[in-house]
Amino acid sequence: MSDRRFEVAMKKKLAVVASLCTPMLFASLVMAAGSTMTIDKELYPYAPSLINWNKTGADFTPPETCGECHPQQYEEWTGSMHALAFQDPVYQGELNLAIKAVGKDIAKQCEGCHTAAAVVKGEIKGVGLEGLSPLALAGVSCDVCHSISGHTHWQTPYHQPENGSMILSPGKDTEAGPVLTKHGPFPAEEGCGEGFHECVESPLFLQSELCASCHQVFHYETHTPLEATYMEWKNGPFAAKGIACQDCHMVAIDTFKRSADDFIRPQREEYHHYFNGANFLLYHLTGLAAKKAGNEELAANAQSKFDMAIARLQSAADLEVMPIYRSDKLAEIKVRVKNIRAGHNLPTSLTNIRQMWLEVTAKDKDGNVIMTTGTVSKDGELPKDVRLLNSDGQNDGFHFALDPWVIQSFARHDTIPPKGYKDVHYGLSADKGAPVSVEVKLRYRQADQKVAEKLLSHVPDDMHLDAIYGITEVPILPVIDMVDKTFTINN
Ligand code: HEC
Ligand code: HEC
Ligand code: HEC
Ligand code: HEC
Ligand code: HEC
Repeated sequence: MSDRRFEVAMKKKLAVVASLCTPMLFASLVMAAGSTMTIDKELYPYAPSLINWNKTGADFTPPETCGECHPQQYEEWTGSMHALAFQDPVYQGELNLAIKAVGKDIAKQCEGCHTAAAVVKGEIKGVGLEGLSPLALAGVSCDVCHSISGHTHWQTPYHQPENGSMILSPGKDTEAGPVLTKHGPFPAEEGCGEGFHECVESPLFLQSELCASCHQVFHYETHTPLEATYMEWKNGPFAAKGIACQDCHMVAIDTFKRSADDFIRPQREEYHHYFNGANFLLYHLTGLAAKKAGNEELAANAQSKFDMAIARLQSAADLEVMPIYRSDKLAEIKVRVKNIRAGHNLPTSLTNIRQMWLEVTAKDKDGNVIMTTGTVSKDGELPKDVRLLNSDGQNDGFHFALDPWVIQSFARHDTIPPKGYKDVHYGLSADKGAPVSVEVKLRYRQADQKVAEKLLSHVPDDMHLDAIYGITEVPILPVIDMVDKTFTINN
């Protein structure tokens, strides 16, 4: 179908949906469908993923080909979380568990974001990596993003971006045969694409709505928002001031800090394809794999992305400590955790998996420990009384649940909104005249030790952690100090 015919067809279908949605008819439709909204399979043929593909004779292109003419973007993207999105062993473990638990149809939803081009081409049939094309293995590759010609964010069943609500158009049919079209942020210059592709200017590339299709994950049936990074951003100060995802995640650390502190958008030449976030664990694993394979260049690349993720985490938050007195005596301390530079909640996305917590140690004037909490044990376990700033998912029976296909709601959501804070109180008594020093650390890791062990022990059979990473058992997960400060309370 040509670009135009596809657009017309889409418009017709959307018009039908809109005309059906008069209030009365709408109510009866919802009732007929039961408690959950059904997705129109004609509008969304890859449901539960909401991707659309404008199918023509023009195929997707693997990243290595783009890299021949765009070496800088290729190098920056290589080893990024987008390049790893499909081969990520943590993802592969969870996907394998999902398919075992609820059947292979769910895979389409997951892959719709983790390797979109392979889903529309019908390449992915089951679990594992064997026999897949380089394009499928490349995850969120160049041509997934640069084929995005538009989105259906405001036409989805819930009228918001979700579960891959983007339109992929890698090219078009012409009388002379198929022509590749690559969408980008700038007006096309003469000869743009050197005959390999045409260039199409799209303002979407400098907007968060480009990222929204994949950075809003909803439960495939109950529509529970499992990851809500886009909505957190949209409802916060950065959206209001026009600072987009790209302005923090496609720039170097100093530029990101300027975007966050001064609300100034980067210059054109400041953008890079890093897509660097918080996931230092994956860069660590990629580094191990590169060293095992003898690829020094990739190992150095992974190390620089690891350093960048740590630097980002270490500039995201700040801490304050305030004493609280009762009857003239120190009775409590209040620790305030501020989200100073994340454009969304801190932490964001898989908030029920990520762990951010406080470790507090108070000492008297002689250096004796009078209170301590939040220390990780040698085998990677956190104490029961730890104050975690993340979320807990639960099933329909109000019982704790971890797996995304089981979660029906959140029992707790202690994440910090952008430019907001959360206070945590600790009982701490001291007599008048007795100074107390309090060391507070805000710590972070990708997951609970046992959760990581569970996911990594369920990677598909053709992913050998020993052969790829040289690990025979899951190591104690690294923990990062985002902030480490000592305060003195002169009672
Ligand atoms: C709407 C797009 C979307 C869908 C659908 C989706 N994911 Fe993801 N997934 C993401 C994004 C974006 C991230 C990265 C968030 C982050 O790094 O915190 C992610 C991260 C993950 C991670 C964490 C990986 C790590 O290294 O920590 C796992 C595991 C995962 N997804 C599994 C799944 C499974 C299983 C499904 C299907 C049941 C699924 N995802 C469906 C977009 C999606
Ligand atoms: C997650 C989506 C995404 C992926 C994946 C991606 N890009 Fe981009 N690309 C963007 C965005 C957003 C911009 C606009 C910001 C900028 O100028 O860098 C852009 C800009 C560009 C530009 C124009 C930059 C300029 O300054 O002239 C080129 C060329 C490009 N990308 C090539 C690539 C190549 C090659 C790859 C794969 C190696 C790739 N992109 C992967 C989103 C993506
Ligand atoms: C034969 C060389 C060649 C190949 C292969 C190639 N490009 Fe380009 N592309 C160019 C040239 C030349 C330009 C214009 C100058 C520039 O921006 O680098 C360009 C420009 C772009 C732009 C900027 C468009 C704009 O104006 O905003 C994007 C995005 C882009 N290419 C993406 C890709 C992607 C994705 C691939 C792989 C599917 C790819 N290119 C493959 C040569 C190529
Ligand atoms: C086609 C879907 C898709 C699009 C479009 C997309 N992403 Fe992602 N993104 C993902 C997936 C999937 C992951 C997670 C991979 C994983 O953890 O295994 C991810 C990971 C990331 C990460 C790394 C997170 C971490 O934990 O370190 C950042 C940062 C990010 N994306 C930013 C962006 C930005 C900015 C844009 C828009 C310019 C964008 N993404 C567009 C799917 C997408
Ligand atoms: C003002 C800067 C800023 C903006 C704007 C911003 N982010 Fe972030 N982002 C951060 C910082 C800092 C972190 C690290 C702390 C954290 O995990 O929240 C981060 C982390 C992330 C992560 C990793 C989460 C994890 O647990 O692994 C993802 C994914 C992400 N951002 C996606 C996005 C998307 C998508 C947008 C746009 C809707 C966006 N970000 C806008 C600063 C920003």
